[in-house]
Amino acid sequence: MSQTPLIRIEQGSKAYGGITVLEGVDFELRAGEIHALVGENGAGKSTLCKAIAGAIGLSAGRYLIDGKPVRFQRPGDALKAGVSMVYQESSLVPTMTVAQNIELGHERFFTSFRTLNIKAQQLLQSLRFHVEPAALVSGLGTAQRQMVEIARAAHHRARAIIFDEPTAALAPEEKHNFFQLVRDLRARGLGIIFISHALEEALMLADRVTVLRDGRHVITAETKDLTRDALVRHMVGREVAQTHYATQRPPADGKPREKVLSVENLTMGNTVKNMSFTLYAGEVVGIAGLIGSGRTEAAKIVAGALKRNLIRGGSVLLPITLPRLILRSFA
Ligand SMILES: Nc1ncnc2c1ncn2[C@@H]1O[C@H](COP(=O)(O)OP(=O)(O)OP(=O)(O)O)[C@@H](O)[C@H]1O
Ligand SMILES: [Mg+2]
Repeated sequence: MSQTPLIRIEQGSKAYGGITVLEGVDFELRAGEIHALVGENGAGKSTLCKAIAGAIGLSAGRYLIDGKPVRFQRPGDALKAGVSMVYQESSLVPTMTVAQNIELGHERFFTSFRTLNIKAQQLLQSLRFHVEPAALVSGLGTAQRQMVEIARAAHHRARAIIFDEPTAALAPEEKHNFFQLVRDLRARGLGIIFISHALEEALMLADRVTVLRDGRHVITAETKDLTRDALVRHMVGREVAQTHYATQRPPADGKPREKVLSVENLTMGNTVKNMSFTLYAGEVVGIAGLIGSGRTEAAKIVAGALKRNLIRGGSVLLPITLPRLILRSFA
């Protein structure tokens, strides 16, 4: 069945001072789909979405909503057309209350604080968000700020919501709630663009995935036809070797060194496989690799930030000479 996409970018390009950061990109978002946008740092994901949200204009190409060409001058124009973006950097005003932030861009004269708060309360409740309308945004945590941004989008009757790296700063429990919310929004017929570096999340949540590389469109595919390895290959543009190399130089002065941390055969699913390294006092150990190679996950295991049940084996040893304070902060 052919369906006019909610949003369509045809041959979208963007240049900054003669440098092209987006080149001839085709992209479409359907109503009622979650569309993940992935790619390495600097691939152009945020730029494409900022153009969709009217925060920047495209240098070339066409932008259509419901099949009709549009040209937004500012984010307010996109918001009126039903396109809302939750930015990588929060766009809320910290010195204003939750209710005021939700109303932002929609203000009417003579609306009392009381009316504003009651309306915000109703909206927040309908979304099952536990946030106090009269609270100042400066006092809220990441997950709650995100809820306010989503409530604002809902208030503006968004038909499409773009989330730029929404889960990066969320705790596992908050992530779970966020995924549920995004699924609810999809069920209501909204189109969702989900930018993420977490490929497992993208594959788990999205209906389709688009990969950008160096400002170009690489592929758009149904999630069910993709694997994590295929995604990584599209992102980096070649086969990714599964080999890991470890090099550790002996100290220049030949003196024995104190072991600070020892990691042995760390394993977590397909992401981290038999990783071992030792950290000595006065030393910097670099962990390098392509995106998706498991750097972050390995660091999270070592720092105790990942749940134990995800880890399939290996050990992290901290010699007893280490101050207790450091041990606690990692626990
Ligand atoms: N305002 C700007 N002026 C000049 N160059 C810019 C500007 N905004 C983005 N760029 C450049 O455009 C390229 C794409 O950036 P963009 O932020 O879209 O990447 P991204 O895919 O969102 O990356 P990340 O995953 O790191 O968020 C980068 O090389 C970036 O340096
Ligand atoms: Mg970005």
